Amino acid sequence: MSPKRFLSGINPSSSKGLHLGNYLGAVQQHVAFQAQGECYYFIADLHSLNSIFDPREVADNTFNTYLDFLALGLDPDKCVFYIESDIPAIPQIQTILNNCVTVSEMNRMHAYKDKLAKGADAEAINMGLFNYPVLMAADILAFRADAVPVGRDQQQHVEICREMAHTFNLRYGDVLKEPEVLIKADVAAVIGTDGERKMSKSLGNDITIFADEQTIRQQIFATVTDRNRVHPTDPGDPDKNVLFSYMKFLGYDETKRRDYEDRYRRGAVGDVEIKKEFFAHYLAYFADQRAKRAELAARPDDIRAMMQANAVKANAVADQTLADVRRAVGLD
Ligand code: TYM
Repeated sequence: MSPKRFLSGINPSSSKGLHLGNYLGAVQQHVAFQAQGECYYFIADLHSLNSIFDPREVADNTFNTYLDFLALGLDPDKCVFYIESDIPAIPQIQTILNNCVTVSEMNRMHAYKDKLAKGADAEAINMGLFNYPVLMAADILAFRADAVPVGRDQQQHVEICREMAHTFNLRYGDVLKEPEVLIKADVAAVIGTDGERKMSKSLGNDITIFADEQTIRQQIFATVTDRNRVHPTDPGDPDKNVLFSYMKFLGYDETKRRDYEDRYRRGAVGDVEIKKEFFAHYLAYFADQRAKRAELAARPDDIRAMMQANAVKANAVADQTLADVRRAVGLD
């Protein structure tokens, strides 16, 4: 039996780079899967075009996000790690998949509905955003991925991708692979520093991984903790202080954490002390990756060569799928 094929990507839509939610919900799993199967990972730069209109920013974000991933442990000796726009078969497959999904199904997609909920004018939403689940389906199906590890917010997109593959196969024969979605329950939706909503680059409730120390300090110190607690001597609820959950996720010493939680309940520790402690732990936890990131950033030519070599490997797979798809639909 051939090894399981994992595939996942990230939209480089933020100049701040990867945040803790991306790391826990996605990247950590991506790194682990490198030892378990064949992995295809990529920077979804075509996706970023629906929100970033400054060409310099598109290019910089793409390059910087690639570095972030490498620094966090993606290893091109163990996976194929490419840039989406280097794979011409993807948009070609997208064009064909457009015929495998209805407008009413697309109207139910979160990315689009979230934009509407945030007050966007439906008439002004661009087709790139509306149609991006189809591009995402092409990303996945071009590589005949078995499994797609993502956070919960991407589940619906992987499900509609399965439906598109199913519709295609019913029409044309067994050509595409229906992928399964892989979501790690405890980190499926990491809460942001507002203590309420999913951590997200666009909400500004994120803690970045590679920003300068001062920025990270500000992000951590801006965390909203138990709102009912006005003075450090007021009893607090550790479940309402999201920093304790971050400590858990990032391997902070359990005995020390329980002690802090206990003191928090009794009103025997201030929020500032906890924030300081977590800030120090955070920098120590990511110290090696931050050093590696700086080292990689000093070798841009090597990185570009790596992108090209990986694109060659990725194209070999995606071109084969495209050839099969073209034949199936009658384009040959
Ligand atoms: P994106 O760029 O928004 O996020 C990248 C990955 O990080 C996960 N994630 C989170 N997980 C847990 N808690 C959070 N607070 C959190 N925030 C983000 C996301 O679920 C995702 O796994 N459309 C995708 C990128 C994409 C893709 C693909 C993914 C394009 N094509 C094909 C998989 C397969 C996106 O915008 O993810």
